Amino acid sequence: MHGVTDETYYIETYGCQMNDHDSEKMAELLEGLGLTAVSSEEEAEVIVINTCSIREKAEHKVYSALGKLKSLKARNPRVVAVVAGCVAQQEKDKLLKRVSQLDAVLGTHRISELPELVQRIRTTGERLCVTDFRTNTESLHIPAPHRGRCAVCSFVTIMQGCSNFCAYCVVPHTRGPEQSRPADEILREVRALVDKGVKEVTLLGQNVNAYGKDLVGKNIFPELLRRLDRIDGLERIRFTTSHPRDFHEDLALAMGNLESVCEHIHLPLQSGSNNVLSAMRRGYASEAYLEKIALLRERVPGTAVTADIIVGFPGETDEDFEMTISALETIRYDQIFSFKFSRRPGTAARRLPDQVPDEVKVERLARVHAIQEAITREYHEAARGTEEEILIEGFRPGTSQPFGRTRTNKIVNLDSGNNVRQGDIVPVWITRGLKHSLMGTTQVVESANEGPCRRPR
Ligand code: 5AD
Ligand code: SF4
Repeated sequence: MHGVTDETYYIETYGCQMNDHDSEKMAELLEGLGLTAVSSEEEAEVIVINTCSIREKAEHKVYSALGKLKSLKARNPRVVAVVAGCVAQQEKDKLLKRVSQLDAVLGTHRISELPELVQRIRTTGERLCVTDFRTNTESLHIPAPHRGRCAVCSFVTIMQGCSNFCAYCVVPHTRGPEQSRPADEILREVRALVDKGVKEVTLLGQNVNAYGKDLVGKNIFPELLRRLDRIDGLERIRFTTSHPRDFHEDLALAMGNLESVCEHIHLPLQSGSNNVLSAMRRGYASEAYLEKIALLRERVPGTAVTADIIVGFPGETDEDFEMTISALETIRYDQIFSFKFSRRPGTAARRLPDQVPDEVKVERLARVHAIQEAITREYHEAARGTEEEILIEGFRPGTSQPFGRTRTNKIVNLDSGNNVRQGDIVPVWITRGLKHSLMGTTQVVESANEGPCRRPR
């Protein structure tokens, strides 16, 4: 590659795991051009801001990052600034008009074109907007980059986009329709990662349990899991996100039967009220959701369940909200991510009457937090004295304290004295449950109540 070698780059990422993974791919592509990563935008000659627009707050953060470009460019006129991700897709060339320091806007289906874009800007000085959707999954064909959260875990995108059009959500607008990647291609990518030492993959998609619908007319996600499970050396498979409507017994059975598939599902409920679920266009009722959770817990004993909750969707009454509270108390999630409803451009809910005042949303969110915090704490405290299998992901920066994750996706910090290496899969005994994580040890400890160890829940 010519013209841009010996330069440096910095990628600032906002939003979800999908964006984290897109940033990894863009890093891989820029390194293919000969660029070197630096740890701040002040030192970089190519700056990519990978944006999120799922909620207004995320979008605001992007505009403050863009505000900094002026001084960065004044300091170094060679700086090339690119905006990628969902705000890029949503705003397109409006961003170029609004931010005069910006050189390019790169759409969510076009990230593989980043190297050409940078080179073209360097040679012609043009300002570019590349945001048309692709009608295939070509944009996902970036060769097995691996720079995940640790050397032994990696993301693998199995589908892009979403065709659900939940009333509140920008994703179908910013990432296009649901498109699954061919299974053979996914398998090739995972094998290549395992050859490089990866032990755990997280399969990514907005609605992974609809995988294959667009390819063969039916969900074949459990079949994909079965094929991946047969890969030698792949120890753990995770996946996110699942849609309750497309969750069926075949997936519960695959989770229960396949050794490498971890016992955790992220199954966003969004609301416990059927009126709200229907206004959200979620395609399930809360009773059906509860039945699915019961089935899952029966087929996959000890599984962790997490969810997303939105409070203050337009028209959500106090009674509706109480149904969400009662769902949280009944289901007892391991953890949840909860959000105040945010009006997003182009979505149906933006125009709905009966928008809920912000102070009500704030109050409701606080109640949801308090209830879930207590439940998570109870789970963590009850984990004390149990045995868990953890995959060592690394060491806390600047210390010799190892940490890893249980199969149920809980972070466990080990005592510094534990003799483990990154990538080891070891049994540990949980010694303490904290608010967000667990403490553990590889040495046998006597549990206060039940002998050396108990099996996990
Ligand atoms: N307002 C609030 N939360 C939202 N989410 C998606 N769109 C919105 C919105 N407009 C939440 C949903 C989804 C998660 C990724 O973000 O809970 O599951
Ligand atoms: Fe958004 Fe609904 Fe698609 Fe999830 S399923 S990405 S919430 S539209």
